[in-house]
Amino acid sequence: MHSDTGDLYRAFAEREARGNSASYQDLAERVAGDEQLLAMLDGLPTAKRQPNLLFGAVRHLGGPVTAGWPAFRDWVAGHWDETSATMLVRRTQTNEAGRCATLLPLLATLPQPLALIEVGASAGLCLYPDRYRYRYLSADGASAVVAEFGAAASPVTLDCTVSGPVPLPASLQERLPEVVWRAGIDLNPLDVRAEEDMRWLESLVWPEQTHRLERLRGAVRVARAAPPLLVRGDLNETVRELVAQAPAGATPVVFHSAVLAYLPPQAREEFAATVRELPGHWISNEALPVLPTVTRRLPRPAPAGSGLFALALDERPVAFTGPHGQSLDWFGTALG
Ligand SMILES: C[S@@+](CC[C@H](N)C(=O)[O-])C[C@H]1O[C@@H](n2cnc3c(N)ncnc32)[C@H](O)[C@@H]1O
Repeated sequence: MHSDTGDLYRAFAEREARGNSASYQDLAERVAGDEQLLAMLDGLPTAKRQPNLLFGAVRHLGGPVTAGWPAFRDWVAGHWDETSATMLVRRTQTNEAGRCATLLPLLATLPQPLALIEVGASAGLCLYPDRYRYRYLSADGASAVVAEFGAAASPVTLDCTVSGPVPLPASLQERLPEVVWRAGIDLNPLDVRAEEDMRWLESLVWPEQTHRLERLRGAVRVARAAPPLLVRGDLNETVRELVAQAPAGATPVVFHSAVLAYLPPQAREEFAATVRELPGHWISNEALPVLPTVTRRLPRPAPAGSGLFALALDERPVAFTGPHGQSLDWFGTALG
């Protein structure tokens, strides 16, 4: 029997997990072929059937995700009440500080100082681009360090492979962008001081990606030192009000990554119309079809099935980015 949920897991295995997580690729392929598990998932609302949510919930509850299919399947079947309850209360809120490496070159071009307003902020870990260390590496296979910026003492070093004429001015060695105000909006803000919330964020990191787990823990330490202002709410209902609170004299920058895909197309359009009218600048870093005004202006198509995001300043695309901030392929778009 054909199942949309099966297609969802098959697509996840192929497009997202392949090359990144052998265990999730295998589990997702097997879920796609398991009629009983699919029927259990289909008992949940559509938005709650996602592979990342299922695997994250199993990890969160201490279930096995790297011990092979039989162990995973038996565990899920035997713990479906807890698993489905966790899937119902939690969201896929993966918070990836690594994305700051793709934002930094744009933030550096804007009039300083900055007031950052992140919509869909999760725990707000992308609100600290001034507190991380950056290592930009050549994409030619040798991975030579092209540029390094940021405080040597930061517990977080973000590696990013670069190609194309990425603006990485030497002045960044002296000074990272100056952030004088940071605020975020989320339907469910996570609190960096709450152990259970941080355990959930850790459960969302894929098992083989231990470097991402270390990065997450370091970024949580950074945020805990001065937790961000996070507002609970829908981005369309709250963004205007939050931007209005930004201090005078700072450039308001509304930004988001891996967020708009969660909104229906009409809500995305509503958001775009609102942000166009706000003061300051708008940085978007989203999967390719999500913002049509950006996608339409891309100078070239992304390699098929690459999963790359499009980075744009005020709807002008400037680069393709790795979805976790691991790469930056700059187009050469004139800034300013
Ligand atoms: C995949 S996470 C990305 C988090 C962060 N932007 C990052 O790049 O690490 C998406 C976040 O968007 C939030 N979100 C989804 N729809 C939203 C909405 N309509 N209003 C506010 N937040 C939303 C989710 O709760 C979640 O925390």
